[in-house]
Amino acid sequence: NERTFIMVKPDGVQRGVVGDVLHRFERRGYKLVALKMIQAPKVLLESHYAEHKGKKFYEPLLTYIGSGPVVAMVWEGLNIVSVGRKMLGATDPAKSEPGTIRGDYGIVTGRNIVHGSDSETSAQREIDLWFRPDEINQWPHTAEKWIYE
Ligand code: GTP
Ligand code: MG
Repeated sequence: NERTFIMVKPDGVQRGVVGDVLHRFERRGYKLVALKMIQAPKVLLESHYAEHKGKKFYEPLLTYIGSGPVVAMVWEGLNIVSVGRKMLGATDPAKSEPGTIRGDYGIVTGRNIVHGSDSETSAQREIDLWFRPDEINQWPHTAEKWIYE
């Protein structure tokens, strides 16, 4: 079953968007398998954002994401990686469609509310980084028979 790592960034927490992000994924029919609030240590963020090391926004990005608690979660379901990215909207909220999370709450790239894994490979890497195996829950999602054909 496909999984993705979704994170409400510190600005999303401050803006009171946590409940809406959860609600959007839940009502769509996806299954929540892990959830926690955490103020990420710098080493974790360095690893999470390793692909951006050396870019001009890298240090500000680590400061931003480390500035307060984030809400980290793992969601499961068919095509969750790509559908999740669509639900988040474009990286730059100014280019995000209204109706997406960033398109409804954000204005600038440096405060774009949420993170979502960009591939199944990234998702696996990020889930392993943010969660221990015993923090991922197995539970029967009984509504699935009404969500999938
Ligand atoms: P994430 O889901 O957060 O990973 O966003 P993304 O995959 O759409 O974008 P990407 O991985 O390229 O960049 C990661 C994060 O770095 C973005 O979400 C922004 O918070 C930040 N970022 C990327 N590019 C810029 C930029 O040009 N300026 C600033 N200030 N921040 C940037
Ligand atoms: Mg990314």
